[in-house]
Amino acid sequence: MTSENTTSKGLRGIVAGKTALSTVGVSGTGLTYCGYDITDLAQHASFEEVVYLLWYQRLPTSSELSDFCDRLVSLRQWPGELLEIMERIPKTAHPMDVMRTACSGVGHYYPETEVLDDRAEQQHPIAERILVLLPGLLLYWYHFSHHGKRIELQSEEKTIAGYFLDRLHLQAPSELPLNVMQASLILYAEHEFNASTFTARVTASTLSDLYSCITAAIGALRGPLHGGANEAAMALIERFDTPDLAEAGILECLARKDKIMGFGHAVYRHSDPRSDIIKAWLPKLVSSEEDKRLFAVSERIEAVMRREKSLFPNADFYHAGAYHALGIPTPLFTPIFVLSRTSGWVAHVFEQRADNRIIRPNADYIGVEPQTWLSIEA
Ligand code: COA
Repeated sequence: MTSENTTSKGLRGIVAGKTALSTVGVSGTGLTYCGYDITDLAQHASFEEVVYLLWYQRLPTSSELSDFCDRLVSLRQWPGELLEIMERIPKTAHPMDVMRTACSGVGHYYPETEVLDDRAEQQHPIAERILVLLPGLLLYWYHFSHHGKRIELQSEEKTIAGYFLDRLHLQAPSELPLNVMQASLILYAEHEFNASTFTARVTASTLSDLYSCITAAIGALRGPLHGGANEAAMALIERFDTPDLAEAGILECLARKDKIMGFGHAVYRHSDPRSDIIKAWLPKLVSSEEDKRLFAVSERIEAVMRREKSLFPNADFYHAGAYHALGIPTPLFTPIFVLSRTSGWVAHVFEQRADNRIIRPNADYIGVEPQTWLSIEA
C-alpha cells in the first residue's frame, strides 16, 4: 500500500478505535457522555455523578453516589513524605508540571500491582485516589510555594468543585461559584479521542499502570496546541480596556493572520456546545467592574470573530472570564482542565484494558535507499 491511501497527518479522519464513552459533533447538542447530552448533564448532574457515569457507564443510584462521594472525601490525606516533595517544587514551576509530579509521586506510595489479574479489583480505588490527589496536592503546593503556608488538606466541602474553591480561597464557596465550578468540571470531563486521551490509551495498551497512563496524559495536555487555550484567551481578553479597542485589536490580529485563542475547533464545525453553557453563567457571575469589562470585551471579540471569520468560541474562551470571576489565578486554569479530564482519561484506560491490543501503528519510511556498509579505513 502507498502512503496516499494509508497515512493522514495528525491521524485526521482516521478511526483509531471504539468507545462507548462520548460522541463529539455527532448527536444531541454536539457532545454526549454515555448517551447523555452535555446540556442535561451540566444542568442536572454533579461532577461526581458524571465521573461515576464515565467509570461505570451508567448513572449511580443515590446510595451508590453517596458512598462514592464519601470514599472520595476519605482519601484527601497524604503521607508527609509526599507533602515534602510538593514543598520542594519551586514557586516558579509551571502548575502543570506540579500536577505531573503529584500524580507520579502518589504512585510510589500506593502502587498498582504488576499482577494483572488483580487490576480489576484495584483500578477503581486507585482511580479515586488520583481524582482526589490532583486538587489537594496542587493547592498544597500553591499555598506553600507562594505564601509559605501549609494548608489543611481536609475541608467541610463534600464535592470536588467545592473542595477546589474552598482550598484555593481557604473559605467555603457560596452557591453560585460552586454551581459554576460544578458545571465547568462537567464540561471538561470527556472529549473522545483527543490527544491526551489517546496518549492515556496508548500507555494503557502496553499494560502499564494507571499512574503512568494519567501522568502521560497530563504531559500531552500540557502542550500549547491542546490544553492552555483558556489561559491564552485570558491573556488576550485582558489586553483590551474597552470593546472598541478589542474590535480594533482583533481586526489587526486577523490582518496579521494571528490565531485568536479560544476560537475554532478541530471537530466542531458550527459551534461548541460547551461554550454556550459556560457563557450563560457569566451575566449572573460577573459583579466587579473589572469582570463586567472583561465580559463586554469577550462578547465583542466573539461578534468580530463570527462576522469576520465565521468562527465560534470554543469551550476555553468564556471559561477564561468565568474562572477570573471565581478569583482563580490564571496559571491554575489548565490544571483545572486536568482535574476534570482525569475522569475521562481514567474511563478510557478502563475501556482500553477491557478489550486491549497494544496500539502500534505503522510508519511510511521516507529515509534513504538501502546502503552498503563500508568499514572506516584505518
Ligand atoms: N483564529 C484565527 N483563525 C482561525 C482560528 C483561530 N482561532 N481557528 C481556525 N482558524 C482559521 C484557520 O487558520 C483556517 O484558515 P485558512 O483556511 O485560511 O487556513 C480556517 O480557520 C479553518 O481552520 P480549521 O481547519 O477549522 O482549524 P484546525 O482544525 O486546523 O485547528 C484549532 C483547530 C482548534 C487548533 C484552531 O482552531 C486553533 O488553533 N484555535 C485556537 C486555539 C484554541 O482555542 N484551542 C483550543 C481548542 S478546544
